[in-house]
Amino acid sequence: MIVGITYDLRNEYLDHGYSEEETAEFDRGETIEAIERVLQDLGFKTDRIGHIRNLTARLAAWKRWDLVFNIAEGLRGVGREAQVPALLDAYEIPYTFSDPLVLSLTLHKGMTKRVIRNLGIPTPNFAIVETDSDMEKVDLPFPLFAKPVAEGTGKGISAASKVGTRDELVSLCRRLLVKYEQPVLIESFLPGREFTVGIVETGNDAMAIGTMEIVLQRRAEREVYSYVNKEECETRVDYRLADDAMAKQAQQVALAAWRGLGCRDAGRVDLRADARGNPHFIEVNPLAGLHPGHSDLPILCTLAGITYPELIRMIMTSALKRLNCAQGSLQTTHLSAMQGIDY
Ligand SMILES: Nc1ncnc2c1ncn2[C@@H]1O[C@H](COP(=O)(O)OP(=O)(O)OP(=O)(O)O)[C@@H](O)[C@H]1O
Ligand SMILES: [Mg+2]
Repeated sequence: MIVGITYDLRNEYLDHGYSEEETAEFDRGETIEAIERVLQDLGFKTDRIGHIRNLTARLAAWKRWDLVFNIAEGLRGVGREAQVPALLDAYEIPYTFSDPLVLSLTLHKGMTKRVIRNLGIPTPNFAIVETDSDMEKVDLPFPLFAKPVAEGTGKGISAASKVGTRDELVSLCRRLLVKYEQPVLIESFLPGREFTVGIVETGNDAMAIGTMEIVLQRRAEREVYSYVNKEECETRVDYRLADDAMAKQAQQVALAAWRGLGCRDAGRVDLRADARGNPHFIEVNPLAGLHPGHSDLPILCTLAGITYPELIRMIMTSALKRLNCAQGSLQTTHLSAMQGIDY
């Protein structure tokens, strides 16, 4: 069985003149090497495809794969994470992780919150602003939190994202609108504990593999798991597994969001508690970072006693299980062979 791997390599974009921040969500070579090594150990033949333009050229040259392990984030547009899956759908090539609908929706944190709210899942009150007159209409109590509506990896997020007055809000929104060229999401500020819940599998099979609390050290930027705190997490952030009552409640909220949105195979839901200690949905990461030592999901797995190879195996098992339901026996054979591998 041949597994292609689609990804955006950070160095490739840096070499073409893109900035550190523009490429923050892209993957390091070590991540691709780590994934490929595990896939090969599991008995798959692998083929590095890379970004969507390589994929397009290879498809046009009649190259095909049995499955694609897709972690491509894409560069432009709110559909950027959905581009590779949509192309693979067009060529009837199955892939890991979520479909284009989920990946487009969840990149837009405001639209996602509309769905989440409709599902009855707790999430802070919010407004989406694009103009000065939108900002004047915001009628939410301070303090508020403002961030670009469709970024990840803490882009556009710092201690200054929490604002206490309308003047601060307006000047922050103006800066964000110019810099990120997209609407700004304004939310009630959640002052409580912060969690990220790791989830594997799909629909009713989905399960939480751990709830990790984000604890900022004294030298970290205050109150917010910001871009700088994420980039320098080794010296600014403590990560610990939590399973007290609030963490369990966070897990329930996360699973309801994962299932309600239709996310697949593996990812993370980020939550934070309000002043009363009730965890609220912040955002979901259906293409969570997979750097073995630097990304939250593998860090969470390590704390929970799940090795990196085991995480990748769980992702493949989930994808093959879905495909087996849809397609039949090739995957069944491979799935049982793969499950025999012991880490
Ligand atoms: N409404 C809020 N109240 C308080 N803090 C918030 C709020 N929204 C976001 N934050 C803080 O900002 C951080 C980053 O927000 P968010 O998860 O939306 O960004 P991201 O860049 O998509 O993250 P990721 O790296 O997980 O992709 C959160 O982890 C949290 O610390
Ligand atoms: Mg987040």
